[in-house]
Amino acid sequence: MSEQLVFRDRRGTNAVKWNSLSRIGFCRDDLLGMWVADMDFASPECVRKALRDAAEFGVFGYDFPPEAYNEAFIAWEKSHHGYETSPEWLRFSPGVVTGFYWLVRLLSEPGDAVLIQTPVYYPFMSAVEDQGRRLVKSELVNNGGVYSIDFEDFERKIVTENVRVFILCSPHNPIGRIWTREELSEMFAICRCHGVKIISDEIHHDFELFGHRHIPAGTVGDYDDMLVTVTAPSKTFNLAGLQNSFVILPDSAIREKFDAHVREVHINGGNSLGYIAAAAAYTGGAGWLRSILRTVEENDALLRRRLAEGLPKAVISPLEGTYLSWVDLGAYIAPEDMKKAMEDRCGLALDYGSQFGGNAPCHIRINLATTAEIINEAATRLIENLV
Ligand SMILES: Cc1ncc(COP(=O)(O)O)c(C=O)c1O
Repeated sequence: MSEQLVFRDRRGTNAVKWNSLSRIGFCRDDLLGMWVADMDFASPECVRKALRDAAEFGVFGYDFPPEAYNEAFIAWEKSHHGYETSPEWLRFSPGVVTGFYWLVRLLSEPGDAVLIQTPVYYPFMSAVEDQGRRLVKSELVNNGGVYSIDFEDFERKIVTENVRVFILCSPHNPIGRIWTREELSEMFAICRCHGVKIISDEIHHDFELFGHRHIPAGTVGDYDDMLVTVTAPSKTFNLAGLQNSFVILPDSAIREKFDAHVREVHINGGNSLGYIAAAAAYTGGAGWLRSILRTVEENDALLRRRLAEGLPKAVISPLEGTYLSWVDLGAYIAPEDMKKAMEDRCGLALDYGSQFGGNAPCHIRINLATTAEIINEAATRLIENLV
C-alpha cells in the first residue's frame, strides 16, 4: 500500500533549503528552495509515530541501538536490492560524507591519487583535497544529455596517475544515472587489475525510477577485499537531520582499520532518536517510498512537459535514479550569467553545474522531491525569464 505524502511549507523553519539563503551565498533569502537534496514532505508516519512514542517516554539517556536497527537495514538491502550483508560488516557513521571522508583517509596515504567521475557531488572533491590526497578526474561523456563512462580515460587516469582509491557515486548525483551491471563490472575489473580500492556512495540507492534497478556494488562480483559501501536512510526517508549512516565493510582488514580510526576520533555511535527513526523507516516505510517515487516520476514528467513547450532547447538528462533533475540551459544563458539569471531574475535557489567539478557550466540541478505546484512555479519562472 502507498502512503499519502504530507507536504510541509518549510519557510520560517531552520531548513537550509528554504531559509537564510543569503547566509550561504545566494543573492537573497526569498528564493524558491530547490537546491540541497532533501524533501518538502514529512517522513513516513511509522517514523513520526516511533519518534512521538520516544518523546512521550521522555528519557533520552544512554541507549543501545534498537535490535531492529541493523536487522531492518539488512532485510531492506536483501529484499529491495538483493544485497546480502552481514551484521559483522556494518559500522556507523553520522553521515555518508563523514563516512567517505574517513574511508579516503583509511584507504590511502597523504599524496596518493584518488579518482572521481565528474561532474559529481561536490564533497567528493573536498574529501580528497581536504585530506591532502591528489584529485584525479575522469569526465563522464555527455552525449545530448545522456551520460556514459569513458572506460579508456578511466583506466588511463588510473595508470598514469597511480590512483589508489576510486570514489563511485551510484546512483550518480547529479547526472541521474543508475549504472548497469555491465558498467560496474567493467569499472571494477579495471580497479582490480590496478589495485585500486573502491568506495561506493549509494545514498540514493532507493530512488529507482522508470523501471531502472540499482545494482549494489557488493553484488557485482568477488570484490569484497577492495570494496566499501556507504549508504543511509537519510535520502530515502528524508531523515538527514537525524544523522545515521551505514558503512558496509565486508573485508576484515579494512574493518580493523576503520575500528581503529573510530577509536581515535571517538565517534562510536549516533543519537537514540536517529536509530529509532531509521529502524522504523526500514521496517514500515516501503509504502511511503512508493509514493515518493511516483511523485518524483510525475514531477520529472511535468518539468519535461513544461520545458519542452517553453524552453525547447533545454536538455534534461534522463532520470534513472536520484530525485535531482539535471538540466542544460546552455542554449539560453551564458556561463557567466547563470547566477544572476537564476537568482535575480528567476528567484530560484538551485545547484549550479559549475559546482560539480566537471564540464557543465550552464547546467542547473533541480530538486524534484516537492509538490507539482512548486515544480510548475519553477518552470514558469524559467520560461518567463529566459526567453
Ligand atoms: C551522493 C551523495 N552522498 C552523500 C550525500 C550526503 O550525505 P550525508 O548528509 O549523509 O553526509 C548526498 C546528499 O545530497 C549525496 O548526494
